[in-house]
Amino acid sequence: MAQVKGRLAVLTGGGDCPGLNAVIRAVVKTALKNGYEIYGIENGFNGLITGTMKLMDYASVSGILPRGGTILGTTNRDNPFHFAVEENGKYVFYDKREEVVKNLRDRNIEALVVIGGDGSLNIAAKLAAECDVKVVGVPKTIDNDLWGTDMTFGFQSAVNIATDALDCIHTTAASHGRVFIVEVMGHKVGWLTLNAGIAGGADIILVPEIPYDIDKIVEKINERHNRGSRFTILAVAEGAISKEDAKLSKKEYKKKLENYKYPSVSYEIAEQIQEKSGMEVRVTVPGHTQRGGSPCAYDRVFASRLGSEAGRMILDGEYGFMVGYKHREIVKVPLEEVAGKLKMLDPNASIVREAKMMGISFGD
Ligand code: F6P
Repeated sequence: MAQVKGRLAVLTGGGDCPGLNAVIRAVVKTALKNGYEIYGIENGFNGLITGTMKLMDYASVSGILPRGGTILGTTNRDNPFHFAVEENGKYVFYDKREEVVKNLRDRNIEALVVIGGDGSLNIAAKLAAECDVKVVGVPKTIDNDLWGTDMTFGFQSAVNIATDALDCIHTTAASHGRVFIVEVMGHKVGWLTLNAGIAGGADIILVPEIPYDIDKIVEKINERHNRGSRFTILAVAEGAISKEDAKLSKKEYKKKLENYKYPSVSYEIAEQIQEKSGMEVRVTVPGHTQRGGSPCAYDRVFASRLGSEAGRMILDGEYGFMVGYKHREIVKVPLEEVAGKLKMLDPNASIVREAKMMGISFGD
């Protein structure tokens, strides 16, 4: 039997998205092919803290390439530096870094692949900087908002799902002559809404980076109506914000949300459009369907490339990096550069200009 060269581990953290399994598969295959053993850590950082992990083999990753979600499980909580435990009905926070280091050391795990978004990669950067853990990060999120990479895996699949929703809404909106709002995921950034909006033929696209004026939205609807279009489709990001609200301080905005009577901003916009235009408005929220299902072909290829490169970097001793994507090439980005930053959509980006040129309104 060939000698084992070393031991690695892989985990998935934060919200799931299509392509996680494709990355896991690529990392595991790269490790096994090169003579390493590899642990799959269960439920994100929780498994790292509690030591819940198992050795993976080729059978563990067989058939998972097209499967959505993550076979390892994930959580949005469980930060090892700020681990919440419920005690007497209250949350108490503990520092669990010693448990993490012990769990890795006890199993002779030399290095860790963290597949995650900004929260998970922040933790990965801190584990590297403060606990000397050898880490490589892989950028995941349907939001495509990670700093240091042009693209995150999961994004293209989510664009496809949100586009399908817009396509479906088009036929019913056209039949009834209604205004329809499709609310697309993205509390902080508008990449997903912008891309799905263009792909799905939305007439109005509202993103957090470009505050809207409700009167401009109504103007656009009326303009369409006056030239004979019976319907209007809006793609609205979860984090879309009006010009008035954008002027509020964080504290004032938080206060407004405390007494907010709508389930989300789309319903507020819907009510205002209805009042101002007299048209019938409906809201559709595809929600977590945007994170579900099988990864598209683009994401399968991209996730496989990222996973393979993460494996290679670990084998070559290149730690402390996120595997990024710049100008169509896989690159390595220092984790500390990624931590704490978001890649926002530039309101002056050419894609926004191009959309505006063909008549798409951003409500600004
Ligand atoms: O960050 C990914 C994301 O899907 C966002 O687009 C969305 O706003 C959020 O997660 C939803 O989070 P949760 O699954 O915790 O409701």
